[in-house]
Amino acid sequence: MKGIVFVKFNDFIEELWGDEFWDELLDEAELPSEGIYTTVGTYDDQELFTLIGLVVDKKNISAKDAQFAFGKWVFKELYNLAPPGAHDFKDVFEFLRAVQYFIHVEVKKLNPDALLPEFEFLSETPNQLSFHYQSPRKLCYFCEGIVHGLAEHTGQEVKVSQSECEHEGDQRCVIEVEKV
Ligand code: HEM
Repeated sequence: MKGIVFVKFNDFIEELWGDEFWDELLDEAELPSEGIYTTVGTYDDQELFTLIGLVVDKKNISAKDAQFAFGKWVFKELYNLAPPGAHDFKDVFEFLRAVQYFIHVEVKKLNPDALLPEFEFLSETPNQLSFHYQSPRKLCYFCEGIVHGLAEHTGQEVKVSQSECEHEGDQRCVIEVEKV
């Protein structure tokens, strides 16, 4: 994954639990990169999973909650570095479609080695939208968190759930977003 994700994960952990806790994680993780992340680098996905696993053990939270919280927190950070034109979308559903058809496409053009999820939109009504989240990284809980961060940004209230989830034994992950 791109360094930006790791750099922001570092910021997120330090904001929550301080830099000593981050150092403690790095000491135990024994990562190939040694945890020295730069935004321009690219690092093994496994490093993120190792770090999340350590947070889960030390803070007694689930991996699901950890990924969700990071996703919710990181939205504003992604937004701040989004390509020109990405700041014009004011509605959660409109924004989600823009992520698939425009924002992540531009991100990929600028960083050809970025690994981005694909969203296949399945249904939409004025209050409900569902999409198939497709990614070999299986970060659907992180994705749910980002949708919450997005809704906070647009000032809309949403419920996010999964009607199907690979982590629950289903064939795919389907994220349901409902405006409430
Ligand atoms: C605000 C504009 C956004 C920008 C600039 C952006 C950019 C990025 C970048 C740079 C990555 C890392 C790619 C890599 O490591 O190779 C990423 C990953 C990801 N993005 Fe976005 N993103 C945005 C919005 C969103 C939104 C709203 C969602 C949720 C629906 C989303 C879902 C994801 C997920 C789940 C990943 C993790 C990779 C994976 O699942 O395979 N992004 N994005």
